[in-house]
Amino acid sequence: MPSSFSTNKGKVEWSLVLIKPDAIQRGLAGTIISRLERQGLKLIALKMLHMDRALAKRHYAIHKDKSFFNGLVDYISSTPVIAIVFEGEKAVEVIRKTMGATDPAKAKAGTIRGDFGLDIERNVVHGSDSIESAREEIRLFFSKDEIFDYYREINS
Ligand code: RTP
Ligand code: MG
Repeated sequence: MPSSFSTNKGKVEWSLVLIKPDAIQRGLAGTIISRLERQGLKLIALKMLHMDRALAKRHYAIHKDKSFFNGLVDYISSTPVIAIVFEGEKAVEVIRKTMGATDPAKAKAGTIRGDFGLDIERNVVHGSDSIESAREEIRLFFSKDEIFDYYREINS
């Protein structure tokens, strides 16, 4: 499954976005999805799911030795999340920029976390931080037949 491929326009990537439990609790899912869609990112997969602790641990495995790991696993598995795959030119970088810094207090106004994040734990959204992690994360959440390949006028 490629999460990066070339077109005559440039490098098209896939990235995994999670609308985190605090965003679902506060009714911000649509706003966040809309913010990313309006940027031109193409929705190619979407589902709501309750991450169990095993999935949470795998998704955040890179942080397993950090002091905040257990709290992070508790939080992300506390209520359902929405998982999305977006496709777009430089999607990984574009989404990270649009999300803003991890700590909402440091995120710029106009970014999703800068505008909606409450604190470093409740920062409303996750986005893959590299093409490689996008590939691994997408595999954790979606099977091949849940990812859609379709024509979109805007990309022609
Ligand atoms: P994410 O993976 O969720 O997109 O966030 P990120 O790349 O911006 O930040 P990362 O370093 O990967 O951290 C993952 C999540 O762990 C929580 N965190 N808590 N208490 C703390 O010091 C702390 N540091 C990180 C955040 O919720 C962060 O999104
Ligand atoms: Mg991260």
